[in-house]
Amino acid sequence: MPLANTTDRYGGVTKTFHWLTALLILSAFPLGFLGANTSHQIAQASGAEQAALLERAATIFSLHKTLGVLAFLTAALRLIWAVIQPHPGLLHGDRKAEALAASTAHWLLYATMLLTPLAGWLHHSATSGFAPILWPFGQALPFVPQSERVAHLFGAAHELLQWVLLGTIAAHVAGALKHHIIDRDDTLRRMLPRRRVAAQASARQPGHAAPALAALAILVVAFGIGAANGSFAARGVPEGAETASAPQAGAGNWQAQEGSIGLTVVQFDQSVGGTFGNFTADITFDDTVSEGESGHVRVAIPIPSLTLGSVTPQALAADYFDAEAHPEAVYEGTLFTTAEGHEARGTLTLKGIEQPVNFPFDLSIEGDQATMAASFTLHRKDFGIGAAVPGSTVAEDVEVSLDLTATR
Ligand code: HEM
Ligand code: HEM
Repeated sequence: MPLANTTDRYGGVTKTFHWLTALLILSAFPLGFLGANTSHQIAQASGAEQAALLERAATIFSLHKTLGVLAFLTAALRLIWAVIQPHPGLLHGDRKAEALAASTAHWLLYATMLLTPLAGWLHHSATSGFAPILWPFGQALPFVPQSERVAHLFGAAHELLQWVLLGTIAAHVAGALKHHIIDRDDTLRRMLPRRRVAAQASARQPGHAAPALAALAILVVAFGIGAANGSFAARGVPEGAETASAPQAGAGNWQAQEGSIGLTVVQFDQSVGGTFGNFTADITFDDTVSEGESGHVRVAIPIPSLTLGSVTPQALAADYFDAEAHPEAVYEGTLFTTAEGHEARGTLTLKGIEQPVNFPFDLSIEGDQATMAASFTLHRKDFGIGAAVPGSTVAEDVEVSLDLTATR
């Protein structure tokens, strides 16, 4: 079979691209719906059932994203090939309305088979952790900020574009079948693999401008309807909440000015970073002590202020932090200055469970300004967090990082 197109037949490359993209896209759809359905069930389940559903949803979404990314790359190559190749004309280009509908559908298909997976990939890039793309070439597209807002925006675009793509495929398939069954012409046959069908295109063909504009208008209307229905509206995520913590100064002779309490969790071998939106710190510290007890600290952290990539709702749910029943975590400790440096020794009360937590910290004081930093590991199961979730899904060790500046 000749590889290149001519003005009256499709070559092998175009046909392979056509059926390969169709196969990938038509596999991505059921996986997407199945994954979304499984995600909804997670919220209603608990314990071991929830852990199993989470793992299942991640596997389905990983497959979905992998096939979707392949669909995107195949569609991009296909578009380049279509641009540099002659295009066989429509067999009935003289039937004006029908020809306009067919060409509009082709333009829409080209646009949405690129934009739908691209929006999905941008959504994936703006979140972290959950359900990786199963390939070794990196996960995130460049220059996409890690932000719930951006993720939500592209998620909404992904969903809108899916429906335009699905509707257009339905119209496109109906058109192909109409040609085959009612018109009994060669339209479908000349696209089938291993057939050498060359059919004479009609002399009259639709131009490019009208169908391209019609396709654009359909996309604009779809996005307009989506915007009117509030698909793109922010869902109450405060601007910047996902990136910074704001400490509130408490009692003590040092007042916290800025800082953050961060978490890094490894989920499905991928690091997911998060922060608590705010916390209160009461710090008493005597920087004249060179050996021995030098102060006291009490830090109260509102658990619902946590953002942890795309898995924030799961992290706050009953099996993990259980933010509703235990809305606050408290660390209370004594500060020691030793020859090696500084150390906090105290207890952390998290999810109603009290455990000793000691950690060294770096401290530098310039005039009336102190900067401290610490990082240490907690074992989530010591606090009953994700007790039923195996370490292969969410690692048991959680990295905690603290940064704080305080003034005297
Ligand atoms: C042609 C390719 C694709 C099609 C047809 C497609 C279709 C779908 C469908 C039907 C859903 C379910 C929507 C729902 O019911 O809520 C979905 C969800 C999703 N897709 Fe895709 N998708 C494609 C490519 C991708 C790619 C490449 C990625 C990422 C790399 C991706 C990421 C996602 C994510 C993260 C969701 C869940 C969205 C959410 O729950 O908010 N998709 N997709
Ligand atoms: C996800 C699914 C599909 C996509 C994205 C898609 C996309 C396209 C595009 C963009 C064209 C224009 C030709 C070109 O320039 O390459 C085309 C042509 C064609 N498609 Fe599809 N297609 C899909 C599924 C199907 C299915 C399932 C059928 C059969 C029932 C079909 C039958 C045809 C035929 C017969 C043509 C040739 C039309 C002509 O020569 O005028 N397509 N398709």
